[in-house]
Amino acid sequence: MTSTQSRYHDAYAQWKSDPVGFWEEAAREIDWIRPADRIFDAEAGTYGRWFAGALCNTCYNAVDRHVATRGDQAAIIYDSPVTGTKRILTYRDLQEEVAILAAVLQDMGVAKGDRVVLYMPMIPEASIGMLACARIGAVHSVVFGGFAPKELATRIDDARPKVVLTASCGIEGARVLPYKPLLDEAISLSAAKPESCLVVQRPQCEASLVEGRDRDWQEEVAKARAAGRKADCVPVAATDPLYVLYTSGTTGKPKGVVRDNGGHMVALKWTMRNFYGVEPGEVFWAASDVGWVVGHSYIVYGPLLHGATAILYEGKPVGTPDAGAYWRVIAEHGVVTLFTAPTAFRAIKKEDPNAELLEGHDLSRFRALFLAGERADPDTIQWAERILDVPVIDHWWQTETGWPVAGNPIGLGLLPVKYGSPTVPMPGYVLEVLDEGGKPVPPDTMGSIVIKLPLPPGCLPTLWNADERFREAYLSVYPGYYSTSDAGYLDKDGYVWVMGRTDDIINVAGHRLSTGGMEEVLASHPAVAECAVIGVKDSLKGEVPCGFVVLKAGVAKAPHEVETELVSLVREKIGPVAAFKLAITVGRLPKTRSGKILRGTMKKIADGESWSMPATIDDPVILDEIGEALKQRGLAG
Ligand code: COA
Ligand code: AMP
Repeated sequence: MTSTQSRYHDAYAQWKSDPVGFWEEAAREIDWIRPADRIFDAEAGTYGRWFAGALCNTCYNAVDRHVATRGDQAAIIYDSPVTGTKRILTYRDLQEEVAILAAVLQDMGVAKGDRVVLYMPMIPEASIGMLACARIGAVHSVVFGGFAPKELATRIDDARPKVVLTASCGIEGARVLPYKPLLDEAISLSAAKPESCLVVQRPQCEASLVEGRDRDWQEEVAKARAAGRKADCVPVAATDPLYVLYTSGTTGKPKGVVRDNGGHMVALKWTMRNFYGVEPGEVFWAASDVGWVVGHSYIVYGPLLHGATAILYEGKPVGTPDAGAYWRVIAEHGVVTLFTAPTAFRAIKKEDPNAELLEGHDLSRFRALFLAGERADPDTIQWAERILDVPVIDHWWQTETGWPVAGNPIGLGLLPVKYGSPTVPMPGYVLEVLDEGGKPVPPDTMGSIVIKLPLPPGCLPTLWNADERFREAYLSVYPGYYSTSDAGYLDKDGYVWVMGRTDDIINVAGHRLSTGGMEEVLASHPAVAECAVIGVKDSLKGEVPCGFVVLKAGVAKAPHEVETELVSLVREKIGPVAAFKLAITVGRLPKTRSGKILRGTMKKIADGESWSMPATIDDPVILDEIGEALKQRGLAG
């Protein structure tokens, strides 16, 4: 379909002329217990609320309502090369499993509005756990398994869950990683102790249970099943929270992004057909993790709300067993659309540059590849296009938005591709680019990308228990706009170009991390006087963190010893997901005369990019010292 045939421009114009009518129409795809009094209430919340007055249940819309029409269709296909297991849950099976677990949660005292933290690997119980919470109006908060106990404890303290759902272990490639000891440590570190934990015992590693607090998931479910216990869907307000998902902020304290029930359902359902071009009954695969927003939106809720089949894949793009894993899954399960991060394709390309492992896999049903989570480099996009012979679509969004801000909507009809740009804003979003003073800049000029308020349905209404932090971080920077903290430009055709963050967030293998958080950890080491962490270019992960440290005078330990300790410390405090492998001791850090560390210039030196001497620099020689230190580690161009 060419651009002249795309319905995108009509859809966007229709939304712009009548946003309320547009979302009212989209909301007809959802079953409401009571319809909204007002589609948008501009007076409520921090910038207005969607579907005010409506009552609904997300689990009902994702599961129960499909049972009559597609009860025998696969809802979830679990494919786990790391355990050699596959399991299909039909919509009917899923309803049964979710209703029973929801009853177990109720028996454990969980009621509407209570929080439940999940610290789970990619097993069906993760999706079942999330849906069970939604069923009874509890608010789930999933914490990615690669985070360390301290990070988990911070999230537990903020969310104050009544119950934690977990599993005895996760499996990373060939390694079995016990999760339960990490949870035990997190609970011992946290001030807000959960009343109980429900633990899936996996055969690869049995966890020991704490008397009086921990319960065996399988046993509790078996008891509830034998007793015929099932929980009904509990009506909740459309504006009630469905979940809280913590994401990196500019300090060590993560932000609890809140998602509501009503707007979230309407937005995700709209994207499935109009953006991703998927029909009910088709197989959709988001190769991410339920611990990330992509997992929430497109492993769990989006496909199920749409009556599609979701793949839940416990494996990697490479090494489980090889770089042909994705092709096997696509062919075997008839996947029509794959969504993953560019880093996954870089990993496949590195292992199998000529895509020889595609041989023998029938990809005839496969229609499109979507990439997000980090900037999709044109090389990777073009390589994927060449080997797969389907559209490869870069799209841009954030944990905060929950669904694509910009992309090339295959469902409405593809627009011409400009490599390096995630194309155009979706209905719901007006994008502008502002200078530091908040003035719009002309096309093709870099600035801060902002979204005109109000945000559309599905985007965060606020941060968990932190309206003021939400206003400060997102709304007060440019009054009237939501600040994305992404820098870039709009070109003359209205295409957006997202070039990087304006804050200290870096993207490592599609995972969002705060360098400020890592600096807090480095600074806590007794030998460290000061430090700076930057993200340096990496051919596989996009960016990796690199920490520069200045040691205190009189430190007896050798610098390399401290560096090794610092690498372990970040792993211990933040987790393996930080991929922090490089700490470099230097004599001093480059600063402005007012004492600000020149992280931007250090990054340019490390990336081998051209840089100019900042006029305000205190001592120019220090930048040469940084370049020299990087060269000794094989970096700096
Ligand atoms: N539980 C425990 N540990 C985890 C984990 C989890 N769920 N996920 C990752 N880790 C660990 C990894 O084992 C690794 O540990 P190591 O330092 O001991 O090797 C570390 O965290 C870093 O993980 P990752 O950044 O994923 O690197 P990797 O080298 O294991 O794999 C890729 C690299 C590219 C294959 C991998 O990042 C990938 O598959 N990415 C796909 C894209 C994606 O999931 N994006 C998310 C947003 S869409
Ligand atoms: P997360 O909240 O983890 O989804 O990360 C969101 C951030 O990832 C965005 O603010 C961007 O900086 C970056 N990002 C996500 N998708 C893209 C994309 N398609 N192009 C460029 N950057 C992206």
